[in-house]
Amino acid sequence: MAIPRIFVLAIILTAIQSSLCTFIPTTEASPPSLRQTAASNISACRISAPRGVYLSLGFSYTEIPCAPSTGTLRAFMFFVDFSDAPAPSSETPQQLYDFFLPAANEWYKTSSYGRLTLNVTADMTRFARMPARSDSYNWNRGLTSATHRTYILDAIDAYARVATVPTGYDVLYIVPTTKATAISFSPTYMDSVEQRGSRTAKQVAGKVVTIGLDAYQTWKSKVINHETGHTMCLPDLYPVTGATGLYIGGWDMMGYINGPSPDYFAWSKWRLGWIDDAQVECVADGKGSSVHVLSALESNDEDIKAVVVRHNATTVLVAEARTKLGVDDAACATGVLLYTVSMATETGRGPVRVLDVNPSGNGCAGDKLNDAPLSLAGTSSFTVPGWGVKVTLTAQSGNRFTIQVDVS
Ligand SMILES: *[C@@H]1O[C@H](CO)[C@@H](O)[C@H](O)[C@H]1NC(C)=O
Ligand SMILES: *[C@@H]1O[C@H](CO)[C@@H](O)[C@H](O)[C@H]1NC(C)=O
Ligand SMILES: *[C@@H]1O[C@H](CO)[C@@H](O)[C@H](O)[C@H]1NC(C)=O
Ligand SMILES: [Zn+2]
Repeated sequence: MAIPRIFVLAIILTAIQSSLCTFIPTTEASPPSLRQTAASNISACRISAPRGVYLSLGFSYTEIPCAPSTGTLRAFMFFVDFSDAPAPSSETPQQLYDFFLPAANEWYKTSSYGRLTLNVTADMTRFARMPARSDSYNWNRGLTSATHRTYILDAIDAYARVATVPTGYDVLYIVPTTKATAISFSPTYMDSVEQRGSRTAKQVAGKVVTIGLDAYQTWKSKVINHETGHTMCLPDLYPVTGATGLYIGGWDMMGYINGPSPDYFAWSKWRLGWIDDAQVECVADGKGSSVHVLSALESNDEDIKAVVVRHNATTVLVAEARTKLGVDDAACATGVLLYTVSMATETGRGPVRVLDVNPSGNGCAGDKLNDAPLSLAGTSSFTVPGWGVKVTLTAQSGNRFTIQVDVS
């Protein structure tokens, strides 16, 4: 969950990239109907975020600053407890740190192909005692941005009484004792914070993740990867007003943290800089057919990770290969996953919709969409309703999947 704080309108810079699409040439042996399209310019698929769409999945999103998604994301972590929920003597900050790290950093290293390092500096010497009771922040009755900020500034005050408040971090993690049940969930504060009344008023961090009970009970270390995803300006992919799996099932942890295939979608990885333009093939030149070879999204290689079909100025179709590799080792179905991405749709309203090529199936791992991909053993071809776009899985060799895209 991301609690918006400020909306800054800024000029959207359009990133112009050169095209490196590699289309397999059509040969005499191909069906007569198969006409090869020219390789499309990648910039036709690298669609920019429209203005005013909070956490749009478009490129060059500049409405708010985003934490770095490549290189090192520098974070600071400290620990708090409360008069009504003191940390028991059996619980140490080190134990809570170990609950989250290094697992959260390993998850990012794997998912980002080594492009992102989460460097968390933690003060494990003590729990800082909060100035107010844990149940005074109305966490359970609809946390507002103002109350969330009060909680964060109270925590920084509490920390300032026992140590020097750090400055200049990308992200601050505030971790409460497991006994603070009133701090029930783990939202991200999307604005920077400074110490109250500080004469120099140096920024402590650009974004703040406040860990809550749901991390200990339900999400474990992956809550860090979901919430830190927001700090990098990724949107929530589940409906803010409804059931968790509704739009995307368990195919990206920005939708459902504990899904069977939690790796970030190829589209998001492209936007974060974990996949290069050369690893994306763009189909944007109208009618025709093209053939593409997708490499497993989870495998660390330089091959093609996404085929993007441009539909209009704000919407694309993406095909990516999902396997049991990497962070998707618990996948309950594999194959070529199809989904649409709308740059004009804000966080929590369904910017990504997974297309279920097996709508009559029961799904797996608790969600109907979890068996959505094309597979040679099951449904191998799908026409996107109303789009005139058909995607057919024609061959699979290990973790490489050949697809044909027909645009009519
Ligand atoms: C791709 O399109 C952009 C914008 O229209 C253009 O500036 C660029 O030269 C094109 N690149 C190629 C390789 O055609
Ligand atoms: C992590 O951050 C700390 C403090 O900012 C720094 O001293 C350390 O060198 C960093 N480690 C890595 C691996 O970047
Ligand atoms: C783009 O296509 C989507 C899906 O068909 C549609 O909802 C949206 O209104 C279209 N947007 C534009 C700008 O044409
Ligand atoms: Zn979220």
